[in-house]
Amino acid sequence: MVEVARWEHRTRRLSRLFGSPYLACYCLGFIIILLNVYRSHSMTVAMKAQGRWEVMDRTDVFYAGVALMVLGTVLVVSSFLSLGFIGTFLGDYFGILMDEKVTGFPFNITENPMYWGSTANYLGLALIGASPVGLVLTAIVAVAYKVAIRFEG
Ligand SMILES: *[C@@H]1O[C@H](CO)[C@@H](O)[C@H](O)[C@H]1NC(C)=O
Repeated sequence: MVEVARWEHRTRRLSRLFGSPYLACYCLGFIIILLNVYRSHSMTVAMKAQGRWEVMDRTDVFYAGVALMVLGTVLVVSSFLSLGFIGTFLGDYFGILMDEKVTGFPFNITENPMYWGSTANYLGLALIGASPVGLVLTAIVAVAYKVAIRFEG
């Protein structure tokens, strides 16, 4: 997705295709949301298929998972609220500049609250489901985000 946004930044093809950088960014954002929903769904299906692992099937692990999902949701929602739709979905690649760099919560805790919030959500889901497959998939998501952050930086 970052690659698509970079290509857009170079060529402005999507903006021209949609007639407006805003519309292009909204469409790309919508596709990113759909892909995220699909990814969460696939992870749930994979976890269900494998079943619960008794080593992880404990009350404290369960509550750690709930806490992570609360933390992740707070990070994702507060990030979205302070960036807005355009800012969240890489508006700056489309040449729509934010007024100023957002520095308040949650950006004073982590530079990429969207990515780390989503990772916390996936990890929480894996713990609640007592799922080794969930842990592996969470690790893959975390690595993918780390790579994305490098490219964006
Ligand atoms: C981040 O900002 C929020 C709200 O302005 C504040 O309550 C919180 O203490 C800050 N956290 C850090 C680690 O600076």
